[in-house]
Amino acid sequence: MSRSGEGDLRFVIVTTNMGKAEEFQKIFERYGLKFRVEQLATIEIQSMDLREIAKHRVLHAYNVLREPVMVEDAGLFVEALGGFPGPFSSYVFRTIGIKGILKLMEGVRDRRAQFRSAIAFYSPLTEPVKIFTGEVSGWVAEEPRGTKGFGFDPIFIPAEGDGRTFGEMDVEEKNAFSHRARAAMRFAEWISKLRGVAPPYR
Ligand code: IMP
Repeated sequence: MSRSGEGDLRFVIVTTNMGKAEEFQKIFERYGLKFRVEQLATIEIQSMDLREIAKHRVLHAYNVLREPVMVEDAGLFVEALGGFPGPFSSYVFRTIGIKGILKLMEGVRDRRAQFRSAIAFYSPLTEPVKIFTGEVSGWVAEEPRGTKGFGFDPIFIPAEGDGRTFGEMDVEEKNAFSHRARAAMRFAEWISKLRGVAPPYR
């Protein structure tokens, strides 16, 4: 089946974060996936588990759109803070922000942290909800560096990188290491295999 054939899977990425959307776009292009981005705000339940949050959000999004749909939930988990802000990352970013995290980390020598991502996909043709995860380990920087990316990117140094923060990397460079890219590639591998097997999505 050709990449633009009848059996291609079309889906909607639901996010209000255009930084995330750009990262997904760059990865999904490589697989020739067919998708569009919808800026729909979804209800977010409280849970310590990103996968649970993503699962509820994807079902809510599906109930609104009635199309195959994908959402992602991500967070920064700081070792010395017992995993905080973790699932509360977007609230923490909006309230105390990067400055607040750096303040909490003042004098802390163990700066290990992880970004984690959970992608949820739902379509009645591939029930139940499918979850794909990815993570990247690194450190919280001493001060913000770089103006690229979004969220906590200026204070996260991936361990596999060259010492730059995500905020100092282009999208393609960040995608070489990031939690989101890892989850997105797992999702893309899975959905690519359905080509020509599942009936065409409208
Ligand atoms: P959510 O998945 O949109 O709820 O993301 C939660 C929050 O985690 C975001 O608002 C960001 O502050 C932070 N975050 C998640 N992923 C990233 C990333 O790739 N870079 C920087 N910050 C991130």
